[in-house]
Amino acid sequence: MVSRYRISVMGLGFVGLSLAVVNARNGFDTIGVDIDRMKIDRLRAGRPDFFEPGMDDMLRDSIGQKRIRFTTDLDYAIRNSEITFLTVGTPLKDNGGGVDLSYVKGAVGGIALSVKGKKDFHLLAVKSTIPPLTMKKLILPVLDDLIEDGRIGVVVNPEFLSEGSAVEDLLAPHMIVIGSSDKRSSLMLEEYYRDFYGTPPEIIRTDVSTAELIKYAYNAFLATKISFINSISAICQEIPDSDVNTVARAIGKDPRIGPQFLQAGPGFGGSCLPKDLAGLIRFSQAVGKRPDLFQAVKEVNDKQLKTIIEMMKKQGVLSKGRIIAVLGLAFKSGTDDVREAVSVRVVEELLGYELRIKVHDPMALKNFERIFGAKVSYSATAHECLRGSDCCVILTDWDGYKNLKPGDFSGVMRSSNIIDARRALDAREFLGMSFNAVGLGS
Ligand code: UGA
Repeated sequence: MVSRYRISVMGLGFVGLSLAVVNARNGFDTIGVDIDRMKIDRLRAGRPDFFEPGMDDMLRDSIGQKRIRFTTDLDYAIRNSEITFLTVGTPLKDNGGGVDLSYVKGAVGGIALSVKGKKDFHLLAVKSTIPPLTMKKLILPVLDDLIEDGRIGVVVNPEFLSEGSAVEDLLAPHMIVIGSSDKRSSLMLEEYYRDFYGTPPEIIRTDVSTAELIKYAYNAFLATKISFINSISAICQEIPDSDVNTVARAIGKDPRIGPQFLQAGPGFGGSCLPKDLAGLIRFSQAVGKRPDLFQAVKEVNDKQLKTIIEMMKKQGVLSKGRIIAVLGLAFKSGTDDVREAVSVRVVEELLGYELRIKVHDPMALKNFERIFGAKVSYSATAHECLRGSDCCVILTDWDGYKNLKPGDFSGVMRSSNIIDARRALDAREFLGMSFNAVGLGS
């Protein structure tokens, strides 16, 4: 369907670019805006900064069909669109002072200036993850005069897409959240969603602060499920023959619990769950509520790293001259992203010992090299990584690792100690070997 609205997307990180490309694919005239000129040049040439299944082809098709343009000129983007999605980053401040809203503030200021020079109504839909009250305290004051004059409307419209399935998540979301105190704006966004989906998924209409909180509650709940199962996995490890995977499979059958996000592992990483959990902890404290549960979820997650290091100590592989093979660097399979990945924390910890560290990942080697440079050795294959090593630790459940058999390890390793922190391997095949897996009592 051809839309009555033209779209601009401000901030072309993972969420913004995915959104822009899928809009263009769905027939919308789309402009992607970013302050990073080099990024814009790469995008014009059809080269995104990150891997996302289906993205490259869709991007190049949309450029070919002239449905998408990229620019650093915000003014041009505002003049040539009716709706702007704000997708700039909201990282944590380095000093532990909560969420850094400077990109949001800068972008909203720029949008306000551009809207002043435009005669038609413009809608700003904020998709960046912002703590509750950000709209009321930081965004609305900048736009107040323009809102009063009926020049701009603003809504909170959080995004729930996951890396590795961004395109699918955008095309078939579980729901849409629209937080607004202004009917005209929310109706306009609903019209856009009708153009986008035909029949849109359920729309949850609410006020701006509730919409802001929904995103934090959502990611904190996912994090809680993971820390819950990792806590059960710690108990399993002390009970001979018990297996956390079977516990998860059983409890997940009850729809009140559900099977997803109950995979025990090395802890959650990535650019969202750790950041949003920390943001929620900080916000709870700021409003005088003790974030006991959220803090416990974080502590359990931090502890998973220690569990892995303890397993290595027990295997006696942390002594001078030993070689550790790390299989899996991406924070989850299906992506090349190593932001807040457990692999980064594991390798940082291992660098404190006089070891040699070899690493492998089918997609994330380059990104990992940007962090660790020559401090570790990079292997082109899992097999090469394992060769001569004294311990293998699996940190990402790539399909290629799931197919590894005992002989793949014992045939090439100096001593075949294995730590399967992702439960990628079939433990039954490794009986009798020095094999540890999280949540497996032995
Ligand atoms: C997460 C949410 O899942 C998205 O819904 C949300 O929109 C997104 O953050 C965001 O805020 O933008 P993402 O960071 O892509 O998406 O990754 P997840 O699939 O949630 O995985 C996060 C971490 O949890 C990974 O390290 C993963 O390996 C780990 N995990 C996940 C487990 O250890 N066990 C599980 O059962 C599931």
